[in-house]
Amino acid sequence: MYGGGYIFSEPTQKEQDDHLDDPVMLAAFEARIGQGEKIEPQDWMPYEYRRQLIRLIEQHAHSEVMGALPEGAWITRAPGFRRKLALIAKVQDEIGHGQLLYNAAETLGKPREAMINDLLSGKSKYSNVFNYPAKTWADVTVIGFLIDAAAIVNQVANSKGSYGPYCRALERICYEESFHIKQGYDAFVALALGSASQRQMLQQALNRWWQPIMHFFGPADKNSVHSEQLMRWKVKMASNDAMRQQFLDSYVPKIWELNLTLPDPYLKKNLESGKWEFTEPDWEEFYKVINGDGPCNAERLATRKYAEEHGHWVRQALINSRQQFAIPLA
Ligand code: COA
Repeated sequence: MYGGGYIFSEPTQKEQDDHLDDPVMLAAFEARIGQGEKIEPQDWMPYEYRRQLIRLIEQHAHSEVMGALPEGAWITRAPGFRRKLALIAKVQDEIGHGQLLYNAAETLGKPREAMINDLLSGKSKYSNVFNYPAKTWADVTVIGFLIDAAAIVNQVANSKGSYGPYCRALERICYEESFHIKQGYDAFVALALGSASQRQMLQQALNRWWQPIMHFFGPADKNSVHSEQLMRWKVKMASNDAMRQQFLDSYVPKIWELNLTLPDPYLKKNLESGKWEFTEPDWEEFYKVINGDGPCNAERLATRKYAEEHGHWVRQALINSRQQFAIPLA
């Protein structure tokens, strides 16, 4: 029941009794993880490990696809041919990341159609940050620099995790993200060192995005629902707070050195503790956004639904041509 190739479904009581808490299997599984071994799709795994991985990888895949929307809308308005080309390539990469991640999640038994349906029905979450508007070109540069930076912090850590297909997908994604961040930083610096109105536009975008970026790493550890278990099974390799701290450490100095400010008067590094101190972000706003009631949730889902419906004939044509030209095996 728990090997590869099976369709994921909620366990029956008998399955739970028979397999879920099998202490010998669980101990062997946890010992493998403790030794740093990768778990592969055909291996035995506790139901909860599979369920958590599907939840997390699926949300991640949706985030990549939904994340292409705010930037994609700027392709026609990017300032100059060089920026336009880079943005087209980046947006295409993000959709590719979605593909890699849906593939990884499918190895756990949930079909892609079911994942897409859960996204479109609003059942599945995706990253909070993609529910905000990209009002100006400066918003696109903040996304390209700081949101990609935040994603790299998270993904580099998790690429060292325990589930083989997810880690391999993350490694490839991280290579591409580290290129994305260069184009984001280049565009960000160009505005920071540009005219007074370009700097002002950038500063305003930074002010708008700061809180969503602080939210990006998830609730504070004390309120995180899944961290403890995910870290025990090495799905998540750092806690939400640890990742947020790592991001602040690496990127706040880069923002300040460009003489830009951040909209938090209490943001500072405590030299004794080595930790960043900051104003607690508005968590009520965070929960509203991740539960479907942010500034752009409805618009993003409507765009995605439109693409799904209007792309149906392309998918069908691909399936038909595959069937038409399929070469029999024997
Ligand atoms: N955006 C949307 N939802 C978020 C979120 C965010 N930035 N941060 C946390 N949440 C959600 C969680 O999905 C969870 O909801 P659920 O129980 O309905 O699934 C809830 O808030 C509680 O958070 P927590 O217990 O801390 O979740 P977590 O342990 O899964 O950690 C992440 C959250 C984002 C750090 C983790 O899921 C992760 O590393 N994901 C992979 C990377 C990713 O998705 N990146 C997105 C953009 S590139």
